[in-house]
Amino acid sequence: MRYPSLGAFLRLASTAQLAFGAAVFNWPDPLLDTLDDQLYRPFFSPASTFALNCNPRDNSTIAAQWLRLAYHDMATHNATTGTGGMDASIAFEFTRPQDVGVGMIESLVDFLVAPNEYVGMADVIAMGAINAVIGCGGPVIPYRGGRVDATEAGPATVPEPQQDLASHIASFQAQGFNQTEMIMLVACGHSLGGVRQVDFPLIVTDDVPAGIQTFASTLGFDNTIVHEYLNGTTENVLVVGSNVTTRSDLRIFSSDNNVTMQSLASSDTFNTVCADLIGRMIDTVPSTVTLTDVIEPLDYKVWNTLLFPQGGSLAFLATLRIIHTGTNPTVTMFWKERTGSFCPPQGCSIGTFQVTNVDSSFLASLKGVDSFDLHSFNASVDLTTSISYFWFEVNHNDGSAPFVVDNNGKNYTIDQDVLLFDPRRSSFTIAGLEMVVGVKDPSGTTNVTALSTLTGSTEVPVTSSTTITFTLDPSWPPADGYTFYTSPISGKASSNTIHATVNGTAYSLWVPFLDAPGV
Ligand code: HEM
Ligand SMILES: *[C@@H]1O[C@H](CO)[C@@H](O)[C@H](O)[C@H]1NC(C)=O
Ligand SMILES: *[C@@H]1O[C@H](CO)[C@@H](O)[C@H](O)[C@H]1NC(C)=O
Ligand SMILES: *[C@@H]1O[C@H](CO)[C@@H](O)[C@H](O)[C@H]1NC(C)=O
Ligand SMILES: *[C@@H]1O[C@H](CO)[C@@H](O)[C@H](O)[C@H]1NC(C)=O
Ligand SMILES: *[C@@H]1O[C@H](CO)[C@@H](O)[C@H](O)[C@H]1NC(C)=O
Ligand SMILES: *[C@@H]1O[C@H](CO)[C@@H](O)[C@H](O)[C@H]1NC(C)=O
Ligand SMILES: *[C@@H]1O[C@H](CO)[C@@H](O)[C@H](O)[C@H]1NC(C)=O
Ligand SMILES: *[C@@H]1O[C@H](CO)[C@@H](O)[C@H](O)[C@H]1NC(C)=O
Ligand SMILES: *[C@@H]1O[C@H](CO)[C@@H](O)[C@H](O)[C@H]1NC(C)=O
Ligand SMILES: *[C@@H]1O[C@H](CO)[C@@H](O)[C@H](O)[C@H]1NC(C)=O
Repeated sequence: MRYPSLGAFLRLASTAQLAFGAAVFNWPDPLLDTLDDQLYRPFFSPASTFALNCNPRDNSTIAAQWLRLAYHDMATHNATTGTGGMDASIAFEFTRPQDVGVGMIESLVDFLVAPNEYVGMADVIAMGAINAVIGCGGPVIPYRGGRVDATEAGPATVPEPQQDLASHIASFQAQGFNQTEMIMLVACGHSLGGVRQVDFPLIVTDDVPAGIQTFASTLGFDNTIVHEYLNGTTENVLVVGSNVTTRSDLRIFSSDNNVTMQSLASSDTFNTVCADLIGRMIDTVPSTVTLTDVIEPLDYKVWNTLLFPQGGSLAFLATLRIIHTGTNPTVTMFWKERTGSFCPPQGCSIGTFQVTNVDSSFLASLKGVDSFDLHSFNASVDLTTSISYFWFEVNHNDGSAPFVVDNNGKNYTIDQDVLLFDPRRSSFTIAGLEMVVGVKDPSGTTNVTALSTLTGSTEVPVTSSTTITFTLDPSWPPADGYTFYTSPISGKASSNTIHATVNGTAYSLWVPFLDAPGV
């Protein structure tokens, strides 16, 4: 079976999601911050776009490869012991026959640079699964974060086609799915892709175009697999293949006299069931792991804050991301002193200096968010009184009272001004970053280190971390009460947390990947 030409696969089953029970973002929250960026801003997740339009790869689709990777990662779960599940242990398991296929490693490589200190590869693989499904026109699946990466392989418990029905029922039971759910999840998964002759020569025995026998005659995520099974036209080699031993889909699909398969004949039911079960699949984690609530696009998000000494004051750069609505709100940023008084009673304030409209992801657009406006602020903060917290007022200029954006009533608190990342003194090079940090301590003897999270490795562990020691930077003499320390940071660093102890107090600051150098 050849794939038909790319058609109208983006007919969507499900659009708006309920914001009900959505994760609350209390700034700063590096996990939610990063996941929100990767879910909803393609800039931060180049891989999120690969699977769109059900893009082909290796005579299958990227989406099919990503979905299979996610299932095989989850399949190590044991509901009895509460171990395994979506934990990226798959990175240690590729040599197993059950994980054969060029798409497995290629998919992991797609995701290699996405993790950071707070976001594990398992979260990224789960995100790949939801992007795979929508990329081929399937339903929107709710996304939660917080998975924890394994440091070794899990058990070899991925089901294989030559196993009997009882084994498959037991496997899925261990993974947390009963027999009905097994039938549904296999039908959902095998909506995409197919079986490759090079990987399974004893299953794909006839020569097939492009070396792959697809599960269904349509490319997209839909229930053609169900219809073709029920009406006897299927070419799914796990149903009608000449090798009876490996007809696992037939044994599974017919295991309840086709009752469940018949229930999936409605495409609405199919989409609802698949969103639910693939959602459960990616949320299957070791019992020690707690996932966040569902992450929806935030109405207002503080992003890319930078505080550093500059010419006798503290430069404070901040961005408020607002969902683009077509109206042009006026946004004002306010802040309060850290010590003493300097600001008027209502706080110091400054208006937006720049509004940049940026793309949202395809997933965001399915949730009704077509783009974001980045309202940027460039404040000059009095050096002596400094800054303790900030907030915003958004005036929609429609007569309504200005809307206060204050971190859910808690204000946006800057917990210290002793240890700062200085983007102006830092320099960005092809090799990475020459990172300069300012320490409010004239002694010049502070020990400054950074925990650097390194990604992009094709060897396990694919994400690692290293501690970097900074040295006093002679090219930046002390200024504005700060002493400057420097260290090269690898281009493979996806984020850094800098640490220093000054006069007995430990300070730390998470420095994520930044939008634009030297802003
Ligand atoms: C008894 C359970 C299952 C068995 C025996 C099974 C077996 C297979 C086999 C033999 C292939 C061909 C792989 C290759 O040629 O490289 C395949 C592909 C695939 N499987 Fe399954 N599978 C099962 C369950 C699932 C589940 C639950 C999902 C996801 C929810 C899933 C998703 C996929 C996808 C998307 C592909 C296509 C990959 C591609 O085209 O690159 N499978 N499966
Ligand atoms: C799950 O763990 C239990 C208890 O250790 C064990 O008996 C069972 O075989 C495991 N199941 C699978 C599928 O590995
Ligand atoms: C599986 O669980 C679902 C939902 O709880 C239930 O409706 C279904 O009957 C169960 N199937 C089996 C075979 O136990
Ligand atoms: C895809 O199909 C073409 C044509 O049959 C074949 O030459 C090529 O090797 C296939 N590529 C992969 C990665 O299987
Ligand atoms: C079987 O189902 C497929 C998918 O819905 C459809 O395209 C095909 O025409 C059907 N064939 C028969 C013989 O009913
Ligand atoms: C059918 O598949 C099984 C399992 O892979 C294999 O052991 C057997 O040799 C195959 N039979 C034929 C005729 O290829
Ligand atoms: C289930 O459906 C398949 C495909 O149409 C058919 O071959 C099989 O006989 C059916 N089994 C039962 C028990 O109805
Ligand atoms: C937040 O800031 C406003 C304005 O300064 C202040 O009135 C309010 O008490 C602050 N809230 C908290 C929880 O600090
Ligand atoms: C640490 O102590 C030195 C010397 O007493 C002082 O100059 C400096 O301001 C102190 N730094 C902080 C952050 O308190
Ligand atoms: C910095 O670290 C070195 C080596 O660990 C230690 O000897 C020194 O006392 C530390 N200096 C300060 C100011 O903490
Ligand atoms: C912020 O304003 C300062 C002057 O107060 C200027 O030097 C700097 O370039 C501005 N930064 C940005 C990002 O516009």
